[in-house]
Amino acid sequence: MKIAVIGTGYVGLVTGTCFADSGNDVTCIDIDEKKIAALNNRQVPIYEPGLTEMVRRNVEANRLHFTTDTPSAIEPAKIVYLAVGTPQSADGSANLTALWAVIDTVAPYLGQSAIIVTKSTVPVGTNRKIFDRLKELTGRECRVASNPEFLKEGVAIDDFMKPDRVVVGVRSEEDARTLHQLYKPFLRTEKPFLVMSPESAEMTKYVANALLATKISFINEMANFCERMGGDINDVRRGIGHDSRIGFAFLFPGVGYGGSCFPKDVRALASMGEDHGFKSSMLRAVDAVNDDQKRIIPQKMEAFFEGDLGGKVIGIWGLAFKPRTDDIREAPALVLIEWLLQKAATVRVHDPEAMANVRGEFGDRLTYCKRQTDVLDNADALVIMTEWGDYQRPDFEKMRAQMRKPVIFDGRNLYELEQMRDRGFIYHSIGRPTVGND
Ligand SMILES: NC(=O)c1ccc[n+]([C@@H]2O[C@H](COP(=O)([O-])OP(=O)(O)OC[C@H]3O[C@@H](n4cnc5c(N)ncnc54)[C@H](O)[C@@H]3O)[C@@H](O)[C@H]2O)c1
Repeated sequence: MKIAVIGTGYVGLVTGTCFADSGNDVTCIDIDEKKIAALNNRQVPIYEPGLTEMVRRNVEANRLHFTTDTPSAIEPAKIVYLAVGTPQSADGSANLTALWAVIDTVAPYLGQSAIIVTKSTVPVGTNRKIFDRLKELTGRECRVASNPEFLKEGVAIDDFMKPDRVVVGVRSEEDARTLHQLYKPFLRTEKPFLVMSPESAEMTKYVANALLATKISFINEMANFCERMGGDINDVRRGIGHDSRIGFAFLFPGVGYGGSCFPKDVRALASMGEDHGFKSSMLRAVDAVNDDQKRIIPQKMEAFFEGDLGGKVIGIWGLAFKPRTDDIREAPALVLIEWLLQKAATVRVHDPEAMANVRGEFGDRLTYCKRQTDVLDNADALVIMTEWGDYQRPDFEKMRAQMRKPVIFDGRNLYELEQMRDRGFIYHSIGRPTVGND
């Protein structure tokens, strides 16, 4: 099947590559000329495990192409996927500028039987508006479907190739059949292909992200209770997780959620409700709790250093919003870095993949360390912001010798309390007592 994917970012590139890998002829389109030039040189501009090999394999097999020339890719396409960004507007709603620009561009070139499928996360009712706009532009009723994406950066290929479920919102059985054919190679383990209205499909994506974000804010709030009242959130987590009604997934306390989806999608859903006269107290609280949680490490550091961070050397392990990605959109580490710089601290950072993106934001104001151990040189404290595997088992003895003071603020609860006390560290974590400070 000939497919065009418009928007070659984290979602569009993975989508296009995985569809090519299952035998389709795919052209990925973007307005970013540098990105397309890199891809045509077989350089993948983002870090996503396994993606580079897969892109190269499919380019070599002549099934995957990249272009900035929208018309040439749209005309022959049977399915046109929309995967452009839908970032947050100043008022919290989803900004659909890119999506509407694309609709206007593709309309004249859309084949009579082509289906436009939205993979971007878009407000409920957008499918209907695309249908209406295309009718206005083409004079006919175009086929418009919705197919929200649930992949997780870091394991995006696995998620796409072996989805828990595929959700499609369609206006006709024929569109459902076409999309089912497309997804058949990915559903061999009998995972469900769920057909619903476009509105339900659009809403499903927001509800999934809202619930996941709620779980994170919930456990973070419970961690804050523990810190004040003496419990250990890790024990509490074990105590609740074995309850089959609760489970363990997404109940890890930390420094707040980031990334390109949860923050903006929670706010966009709340904003949609408000547009319809409904105020979501819960979603606003989830968002507020998350904002506070991003400041939890600064608060702990402020208290420990009694407000005096000027000239202190602070090392940071982990900058990406989560492991196995280079994505730093809304990453909690950015809030911490900004605060440390305001406090006139010297900041030394390491991340296996996200340093180039952080350099793009902070330039020379930070020291970028090639090796994770380099951030520790004369450090007054180490802060762990992302739970990369690289940080799970460091050489604590060497670390202690290298640091000016053996102080760790662990925003991801990577280590055992008793062991950290025995190793001679002052160890702060989330929702657990601080050890080594007595
Ligand atoms: N990143 C995720 O984990 C994830 C997961 C599920 C859903 N989503 C949703 O998927 C959508 C895309 O997210 P992303 O993370 O891939 O964004 P992204 O910013 O990585 O990619 C978007 C791409 O669209 C391109 N673009 C913008 N305007 C264009 C135009 N007029 N024509 C062609 N290309 C254009 C940009 O240059 C960019 O390369 C969003 O709606 C997001 O909410 C993202």
